[in-house]
Amino acid sequence: MSAAPSPGESARRDALVQMYHVSKSYLPGTFALRDVTLEVAKGEFVFLTGPSGAGKTTLLKLLFAAEKPSEGQIILRGRNIARLRDSAIPGLRRRIGVVFQDFKLLANRTVEENVAVTLEVLGRPPREVRRRVFALLKQVGLQHRRHHFPLSLSGGEQQRVALARALAGEPELLLADEPTGNLDPELTLEIMDLIAHASVRGTTVIVATHDLPTVDRYGKRTLHLEAGRIKEDRAAVGVRP
Ligand SMILES: Nc1ncnc2c1ncn2[C@@H]1O[C@H](COP(=O)(O)OP(=O)(O)OP(=O)(O)O)[C@@H](O)[C@H]1O
Ligand SMILES: [Mg+2]
Repeated sequence: MSAAPSPGESARRDALVQMYHVSKSYLPGTFALRDVTLEVAKGEFVFLTGPSGAGKTTLLKLLFAAEKPSEGQIILRGRNIARLRDSAIPGLRRRIGVVFQDFKLLANRTVEENVAVTLEVLGRPPREVRRRVFALLKQVGLQHRRHHFPLSLSGGEQQRVALARALAGEPELLLADEPTGNLDPELTLEIMDLIAHASVRGTTVIVATHDLPTVDRYGKRTLHLEAGRIKEDRAAVGVRP
């Protein structure tokens, strides 16, 4: 007979993301992240806040294996990705959707093709690709731009295409870096609702943002970083710590 798991153990079993004592130095003697330990449960929605330079983008990049930690363990779905071989990275990324400033849209493909790429890589049949791309572009309000090329779009429009691309494959994990940075209040709301909707459907979501009114509006768990350390881990409104 085995003992019932303690609450701590069952929380760990449901974790999608675990970081233990993770530090990142880009340059010797400086730390972008310092001894970060955290867990994010499957399906959880987490905001990352903190001043410029606090380490938000770095944390997201480590989870996407775009950077390697200097120290510590990063466990995704029970697998340590801190020392992943380069050949294993595409497999990891297939299940992660990202909206990052430096993972740009493909300039020589139309809006529609940019979103379709995610689904084609996953091997989805052409009919399904067409249907899903149509639905996603409608959701982000860019149907009328589907034949345009990214460079002819505004910053906010490009960001919305990036989000459609990130959500296309119904990823297990969505990492978004300032996804509403270039948007007016109305579009911010629409985009955040889309992200929240993905989370309700089971996608684990981590959003880095400076937009504190948005953070307050959604009342989700919020990790506040300062100088590379987690200064506060605020539970979602209505959820006991
Ligand atoms: N490629 C790099 N090379 C050297 N230092 C870097 C690099 N990327 C980030 N840093 C440094 O790491 C620290 C954390 O940067 P990071 O981009 O993670 O912060 P951030 O919280 O995302 O800031 P912002 O709100 O301005 O986007 C900063 O001091 C930054 O200068
Ligand atoms: Mg950043």
